[in-house]
Amino acid sequence: MRVLGINAVFHDPAAALVVDGRIVAAAEEERFSRRKHGKRPVPFSAWEQPVLSARWCLAHAGLRAEDIDLVGFSYDPSLVRPAGETGLEDPWDHLRTMYAEQAPSLLADALPGLDPGKVRFVPHHVAHAASATLGRTGSVLVCDGRGERASHLSGRNSADGLEVLASQDLPHSLGLMYEDLTEHLGFLRSSDEYKVMALASYGKPRHLELLRAAVRTTEDGGFVTDGIDWPRLAPARAPGEQWTNEHADLAASVQRRLEEVLLDLARWLHERTGDRTLMIAGGTGFNCVANTVLVRQGPFENVWVQPAAGDAGTALGAAVHLANTGPVEFAPDLGRDWTDAEIEQVLRTARVPYERPPDVAETVAETLAEDGIVAWFQGRSEYGPRALGHRSLLAHPGRRATLERLNDVKGREQFRPVAPMVAAGRAGEIFARGPLPSPYMLFVHDVAPAWQDRIPAVVHVDGTARVQTVDASAEPLVARMLAAFERRTGLPVVVNTSLNTAGRPMVDSPRDALECFGATPIDLLAIGPFVVRRPA
Ligand SMILES: [Fe+2]
Repeated sequence: MRVLGINAVFHDPAAALVVDGRIVAAAEEERFSRRKHGKRPVPFSAWEQPVLSARWCLAHAGLRAEDIDLVGFSYDPSLVRPAGETGLEDPWDHLRTMYAEQAPSLLADALPGLDPGKVRFVPHHVAHAASATLGRTGSVLVCDGRGERASHLSGRNSADGLEVLASQDLPHSLGLMYEDLTEHLGFLRSSDEYKVMALASYGKPRHLELLRAAVRTTEDGGFVTDGIDWPRLAPARAPGEQWTNEHADLAASVQRRLEEVLLDLARWLHERTGDRTLMIAGGTGFNCVANTVLVRQGPFENVWVQPAAGDAGTALGAAVHLANTGPVEFAPDLGRDWTDAEIEQVLRTARVPYERPPDVAETVAETLAEDGIVAWFQGRSEYGPRALGHRSLLAHPGRRATLERLNDVKGREQFRPVAPMVAAGRAGEIFARGPLPSPYMLFVHDVAPAWQDRIPAVVHVDGTARVQTVDASAEPLVARMLAAFERRTGLPVVVNTSLNTAGRPMVDSPRDALECFGATPIDLLAIGPFVVRRPA
């Protein structure tokens, strides 16, 4: 059975394709359109479908639109309540319902040959849940900004399907609360929430008691988020303005309260299921600090978070849900790739001088050891916002100045940390108090004191790091590069951040890579088996 999954209504439009129980392709529209997050999540944009990514999914599998058996659309307009009843003040919300109802014909227009009768509406949080469980048995927790009428789902997945045990209706929403805070602190809402999480490390949670009164769990497994008078707690910050301790303290307070509430929700769920494993999706799943609290203090032995936890992941979830085939194999490199010949043709066309070294991993390690910054373009691009060794910027972790240089390349705030990648076998001696292996950068770890001075570029102000462990069988080329770097420097760790500049989507195609390389002080571009050097 061939099932196409579509996410279109809010943000991070994406498409995914599941064929005979195998995930064949999944990609976010932004990687094609080169517009970060695909679109702004306003009601007026809800008609836009992920046309480019959906067409690519089909082309990648060699399918035509008429070959598709079902299309899962990750929003069910029949579940929506009128805006007045949800308590959200959005007079245009009905546009989302209207456009979602038209999705079958909009998709049939975009994908000629597609039978609009094959489109099924999958409830938003059911799609998130399916992206987390991927057909496996265990407990599942979804928290996001909002779906049709809810902002949360707690449940249990098994061979019999998903049993929903609790769901919190709007306007109460942990995700929207965090988005409101993001906006108040001068960042872009439903985009820059991770900056608030980074800022929280600099503050003290001195408003915690007030937040405990405003945000609290209920006995039925849900929660209440009362309106919070943000300006009373800290002045609004204009975008680009210097942040103060007041801003950091507010971020720390909300972050701490979010962690407490998620812990309560997890405990409630565990009391009902007794499962050992908790699977997580929804935008709050990107909060790696909260994820780590769930591991350290929560009742579940294992916590697994879908790396495309945000709405992009619902394209995959909707397809997996309809395919209904039992456990599905998952790895996040589900996007586009190019053959060596195709890459070489792009380099020739661009008339850039390039070489084909005997082993690109060794050449990259040499450049990194000499403190160069490397753009790393290998294999299929990642589904979800994290660079996991396919579209990465790499650097030497041993110098604090590297962090500043990298943030300059990316044109982003200096308070934000960059993350380490480490050989899976070496992670245990350097990183503690978080789950290992940790292949998707969704948890934080304490950096062992003996290592803090050796890899200062990846240590956040609170002594933590957001690790990606690299397994040599899953990622042989990255593992070889790490080993080659360690041979030269004694360090089994390399700085890894996403290959993009501020405000732009991650690099996806060879042409994107050349544009990024051409515009930034990157020393070496390693693209497939080729390298392009910046002239001295
Ligand atoms: Fe969502």
